[in-house]
Amino acid sequence: MNLAAVASAEEKLLLPTYERQRVLFTRGKGVYLWDSRGKKYLDFLSGIGVNALGHRHPAIQRALKKQASKLIHVSNLFFHEYQAELAKRLAKISGLERVFFCNSGTEAWDGALKLARAYAKTNNNNGHKAKWRLLALENSFHGRTFGALSTTGQEKYRNPFAPVVPGVGFVAFNDLNDLKRQFDGSVCAVCIETIQGESGIHPVSAEFLRLARELTQKTGALLILDEIQCGLGRTGKYFAYQQYGLKPDIVTVAKPLASGLPLGAILTTNRVATGIHPGMHGTTFGGGPLACAVAVEFLKVLEGLLPHINETGSYFRASLEQLQSQHACVREMRGAGLMLGVDLDSAETAKAVAKELLEKGIIINRTHDTVLRFLPPYIIQKKHVDEVVAALDKALQSSGGKVSAKMQNKMQKKRTTTDVKTRRKHA
Ligand SMILES: Cc1ncc(COP(=O)(O)O)c(C=O)c1O
Repeated sequence: MNLAAVASAEEKLLLPTYERQRVLFTRGKGVYLWDSRGKKYLDFLSGIGVNALGHRHPAIQRALKKQASKLIHVSNLFFHEYQAELAKRLAKISGLERVFFCNSGTEAWDGALKLARAYAKTNNNNGHKAKWRLLALENSFHGRTFGALSTTGQEKYRNPFAPVVPGVGFVAFNDLNDLKRQFDGSVCAVCIETIQGESGIHPVSAEFLRLARELTQKTGALLILDEIQCGLGRTGKYFAYQQYGLKPDIVTVAKPLASGLPLGAILTTNRVATGIHPGMHGTTFGGGPLACAVAVEFLKVLEGLLPHINETGSYFRASLEQLQSQHACVREMRGAGLMLGVDLDSAETAKAVAKELLEKGIIINRTHDTVLRFLPPYIIQKKHVDEVVAALDKALQSSGGKVSAKMQNKMQKKRTTTDVKTRRKHA
């Protein structure tokens, strides 16, 4: 089927959950993708952070072929060779001792919330009668299943499905006073994306994370970090929390873990694991031999790539900062390693820039209306960064310039007011 045929069939057959770009990809290799017409694209989004080793990485291909020819699924009623090996590697790099494997980010996050509730029930040293409240952050994104949705700090995702799971409070992002005000002995966990991804690449501040760690430690509540987007090498460390010099009680990972096969994981401590007993939680597909064998290979390759991620990440960041100084429509540049966001002054400009880049054969995405999000594969070279930055420069000139002077003025005024409000809020 060609693009038109696929698009029209999908329109009739699928639930209308996605507004897809009109591109039909048929193959990929390294940092490139090709569409059905043979057009080549430089992939700076890597399937929203999944294809961290690019497309058809030789080590991944080898592991896939080898394992697919031996065994694909056995269920969690039996052992296979790779869960223990993968768990051992994850425990070593995270400093957390226990692992649960599942199939996706949202499933990992839901499991983490269940674990926090279960742990609080069996280990409530602080003696608070109802220790089940969860504190999450405004503007967060944790996934689409009910638990994850209920802790997602954006009404547009929650409201269509309300009422959501009760017992969740939302703290203003990086607001120390708000966290202190809302935290008490009834809280079983504080839930944080170490770097908020979907809401526009916002790293949590060191002070805020430290406070969350201190408060939770005082009452025996848990600190749960969502590193589904920012973990597993994305920031140049195995985990983004390692940049902050502290350790959570639970961390969730998924996206790049099995290089495109569905695999998520909850990592936690021996202490928290005491809240779980056989039969309390599970999954049919999670942690199968194929996905785990591939994930073992992913972690082996990742080990050698961390210095490269740091180097290309710094180079990319410096190039974007230079671009920022040249374009009035760039409001801010944020992120770490190879997780970067360029915040523009209007949704229209961001939309036009992303569209222009796609036409030129560069894949990025626009998130939270105004933010251009870059999640390139870890194997990119500086020449790829140069190519993207040059194309972005041109697109910012043409698309940024298309927004009328009147609109620019209006947006500048709005921006100043928002900035003042934000500063007041965080003062
Ligand atoms: C931080 C974060 N948490 C959770 C999820 C949900 O993951 P999944 O789409 O695999 O369910 C995402 C997905 O984008 C994410 O970025």
